Amino acid sequence: MNYKPLLPLLVLLLLAGSARAQVLTADYHVIPLPKSVQANPNVSQMFTLKTGMGIAYDATNEEASRTAEFLREWFEQATGIRLVLTPKDKRAAIRLQIGLDADKKKSRKAKAIPLTDQQLEAYVLKVDSKGITLQARQPVGLFRAAQTLRKSLPLVRTDAVLFPFTVIEDEPRFAYRGLLLDCARHFFSVETIKQMLDVMALHGCNQFHWHLTEDQGWRFEVKALPRLALEGSIREQTVIGPNAGIYDGTPYGGYYTQDECREIVRYAAERYINVIPEIDLPGHMQGALHVFPNLGCTGGPYPVRTEWGVSREVLCAGNPETMTFIKTVLGELCDVFPSKFIHIGGDECPKNRWKECPKCQAKARELGLTYDGKHSVENQLQTYINHEVEKFLNARGRDLIGWDETLEGGLTSGAVVMSWRGVKGGIEAARQGHRVIMSPNVFAYIDHPQLKDVAKQPRTIGGYIVSASKVYSFEPVLPDSLTVEQQQCILGQQVNLWTEYIAYPEFAFYQLLPRLGAAAEVQWCRPEQKDWDSFTARLPRLLQLYDRIGVKYCHGLE
Ligand code: ACM
Ligand code: ZN
Repeated sequence: MNYKPLLPLLVLLLLAGSARAQVLTADYHVIPLPKSVQANPNVSQMFTLKTGMGIAYDATNEEASRTAEFLREWFEQATGIRLVLTPKDKRAAIRLQIGLDADKKKSRKAKAIPLTDQQLEAYVLKVDSKGITLQARQPVGLFRAAQTLRKSLPLVRTDAVLFPFTVIEDEPRFAYRGLLLDCARHFFSVETIKQMLDVMALHGCNQFHWHLTEDQGWRFEVKALPRLALEGSIREQTVIGPNAGIYDGTPYGGYYTQDECREIVRYAAERYINVIPEIDLPGHMQGALHVFPNLGCTGGPYPVRTEWGVSREVLCAGNPETMTFIKTVLGELCDVFPSKFIHIGGDECPKNRWKECPKCQAKARELGLTYDGKHSVENQLQTYINHEVEKFLNARGRDLIGWDETLEGGLTSGAVVMSWRGVKGGIEAARQGHRVIMSPNVFAYIDHPQLKDVAKQPRTIGGYIVSASKVYSFEPVLPDSLTVEQQQCILGQQVNLWTEYIAYPEFAFYQLLPRLGAAAEVQWCRPEQKDWDSFTARLPRLLQLYDRIGVKYCHGLE
């Protein structure tokens, strides 16, 4: 009789006899699924990791040291196993190393080819009789490897875990893996945002798109314009439900000081997340117009908006003070946020006021704008603003991102398009050679309900359901619509958590999870790796981890 298949069981029984707690096995099939998990041909080969063992790393490397500390915390959080930081111990059970063996073997010629952002995040995680080795080209890869190791852990209180021998090789499919949080319709505390950044990092996301300004509230402190946040952040009351004309009668507000924004940037960077601030312009500006009514076409007054939906009150394109205002705001924004990308919105800017405004029409004449058969005069006026803003940002070494409306008047090639009204804008942008982030509403708007039976979940926006399987099913590069070269323009994917109907952190996390898990596989995995049944089989352990971390999530899965 061949006893080999029974060996793991025997090991378990033996260990169970002596240890006070269960000894369970790690499972590397985590979410998002690594690019390759080499199956161990001999399942009996396992490394036993126990309380008191060490984590070694290069203590002169601040980032590696931080990841070692994270790993220590995560083992304790998941299992109660207490590891010790032993930077110099070459024989430690867990070893964090910068440098991939594969790179050492490569020829000089191969080395001359620059690495992609994704390759810079690559890591190898090896388990053999000596222990667990995490190797990466850069510290970010060590962090990704550590997250995979963390997610492999059984969620039980124990003092030992069995790690099957393996070699995991991994790197993300897309360089851009984003989540938008709307902190303007509802305000979320710095603590909540930090918790969300932790959850993003758990899922391998690396871009936090921070929606900071809206008709319903301005949330970014601008020191040169102190009234902007002080007064523009507060609405007198909020409509109850979907604009039914009933209001709660309670003032609502909140904004982030620049120090708080810097703290968010710092916290995110330690988790390898870039923070992209969005100042939505020239529409979605009623919060600012409330404070500076001279910047509107009619002169106001403009209350900070108390209903949802799109306001027709927008920045006046013909008033020179508008550009001064935008530059003042974006100048301070660039001082606070080091992100290469700055988002300027550009969506849903009704042109009713511009059509009637003598200043806007005079500006259009001054610029010589006429209908060109494709772009209206007013759309071109918005493009004029986009170009001015883009020059301003480029001079500061930044690139502009805009929603797909920014395509409507023609864009300069350096601008990045975020496609939200389906994929059409993204396809057109990629065909024009623009870089694109895919965030089509029907697949990516996670403010929508995730269960068909809406009575089973708290009330949120209507219209359509965005189930986890719908999120999962999205393919961002659209091979039927784009050539191989055009597909290279697709930087990645983003899911968006708009918050008209999401007033509390618990509900925000409920909406986010587990759909962020589904999005993580869209963002990280190759299409041939994606499989809904496999995803659902791997999900329970991630849900247990959500429980352990203490974040809410939706228990249904459709
Ligand atoms: C958007 O949803 N208006 C970008
Ligand atoms: Zn105007």
